[in-house]
Amino acid sequence: MEDKLINEINEKTAIVDLVSEFVSLSKRGKNFMGLCPFHQEKTPSFSVSPEKNIAKCMSCGEGGTPINFYRKIKNISFEEAALELAERAGIEIKHKKVKSDPNTHYFKLMNEVAQFYQFNLKNSEKGQEALKYLYQRQMTDELISHFKLGYATGHSDTLYQVLKDKKYAVSDMILLGVVKQADDGTYYDLFSDRIIFPITSPRGDVVGLSGRTLNPKDQVKYINSPETVIFKKGYLLYHLFEALSDIRMSKQVVLYEGFFDVISSYAAGVKNGVATMGTALTKNQAQLIKNVTKSVLIAYDGDAAGLKATDHAIPLLEREQLKVEVLTIPEKMDPDDFIKAYGPEKYEMLFGEYTLDAYAFRYHYYKQGKNLQDANDMKAFRRQVMVMIQNSDSSIRAFYAQKLAHDLNIPVESLQRKKSVQSEPIIPKSDQPKMIDKHQKAERYLIFAMLRSKEAAEFIMKSLKQTDFAETITAAIRLKIENYYEDHRELDINDFLDQLTLEQRQHMENVLLTDMFWTNNIVISTDELSPYIALVKEANLKRRLEYLREKIKNEDNVSDILINERDQIIVLLKHNK
Ligand code: UTP
Ligand code: MN
Repeated sequence: MEDKLINEINEKTAIVDLVSEFVSLSKRGKNFMGLCPFHQEKTPSFSVSPEKNIAKCMSCGEGGTPINFYRKIKNISFEEAALELAERAGIEIKHKKVKSDPNTHYFKLMNEVAQFYQFNLKNSEKGQEALKYLYQRQMTDELISHFKLGYATGHSDTLYQVLKDKKYAVSDMILLGVVKQADDGTYYDLFSDRIIFPITSPRGDVVGLSGRTLNPKDQVKYINSPETVIFKKGYLLYHLFEALSDIRMSKQVVLYEGFFDVISSYAAGVKNGVATMGTALTKNQAQLIKNVTKSVLIAYDGDAAGLKATDHAIPLLEREQLKVEVLTIPEKMDPDDFIKAYGPEKYEMLFGEYTLDAYAFRYHYYKQGKNLQDANDMKAFRRQVMVMIQNSDSSIRAFYAQKLAHDLNIPVESLQRKKSVQSEPIIPKSDQPKMIDKHQKAERYLIFAMLRSKEAAEFIMKSLKQTDFAETITAAIRLKIENYYEDHRELDINDFLDQLTLEQRQHMENVLLTDMFWTNNIVISTDELSPYIALVKEANLKRRLEYLREKIKNEDNVSDILINERDQIIVLLKHNK
């Protein structure tokens, strides 16, 4: 976008009007003042100058020209902000780069659905029961409208009829999963007699819905929209869009497991909450958080599943350079239960007193329930702590190594000597790989890459056969990784190690803890993998060549096929040089 155009957009956007949409302003002399929308404050320091046509916080420094203010407050790109403001100001832009979203039509339909269900909650007979249920759970009208809660009646095709009357295509209703077709060809609604939670994209469009049953005996507590072109659970966080301004002010996201945790916390004054929707946190969700803030507080359920999920989420969030803390909720409750049981004041107190940094949390978690006199428990605990600190800075490593040594009642040096202790002959000496050559190094490197990302793993599996690996143990581990990714998006190293045989684990730990690639925590792109894949293939060819040469030398009646193959390999190897 040209400077001239940018200047024109800024000039034609009155800063006072724009800011007033987000902040209530009052006149002070030549300027206007209000509470800063970018940080928490009690006395106004956000100053808006109509004369200079800029806004700026005297205290935190945030603000800027109309485009910059708009971009920051809406959390959108400069280009998007400029285009939106240009449209408002009636400025024609010739070569619009940003095309209108091809899914706009779907958003419109989903929005219609959410509105219909909202209307039903307040205006249908059965909706009154649903409303009563919500009031019983301490929901207020204000909360219901902020979260746009709704109700789907028990009639099987009400929504379908409404959408049809409004001329929406049946194919779109089905594509978006809100309507289904029965075997007899008739259409019926996905949700029946359920409280509806609309789920928005980070841009604020309704992209999916979740429905909670009112019947405690119902087998399925929540039914969700299926994955559709616009609804991908791993790429969304519940309430992220709605919480944007509170996240900006508190400079933190609170991450929950359930809808009701987000809502009850909101009612208790913690408004910067978001939630995953019944699935483990993904890398993409961690990136969504990173896009809006630098700090995250995990507030998962206090039960065993919640602790495990927390342990899974921490490295994903840390990989995005987020500061991670954990709220530990006592008595195995979830935040919603806790608020119900102890009230909002006690809940707010938890945030100071029951918050741990991610290391302290994991250390306690790993230690919990282990008998540190028991050799297996000792080993598992040591492994977990060592993996936790392997990529950390030296003071954290030293601190937890000390702590671990103390708890295991061993000298701290014995932790450092781990390598030599570990490579003691589980595998008999004679079978151990000789000098690590570049081919073996390449194999190992590929294994690390597979552990790091599913994408790399898939690329490698496509490029190499199981038998291309020279070390049988590496081939076996490769197979385990492949199995692991069949039902996981991300590999949790502790979880994975638990699934290996003792020998495989030993091999992995030696490799993991000794190899520079792993400790340096490099992100690997598939481009970088190709040379290593080529090396493994080359090694394989060389092995085959050696075998053929031996055979040809020792046998009297050598078939031409073998000789041909030998010559081809020689050419191939030469060619690759
Ligand atoms: P919970 O079972 O903890 O639900 O599941 P909750 O939010 O605390 O609900 P209440 O308090 O029992 O009413 C946590 C999240 O997992 C997803 C939902 O997103 C839920 O909020 N979930 C749960 C499902 O998708 N399906 C289910 O059957 C259950
Ligand atoms: Mn829960």
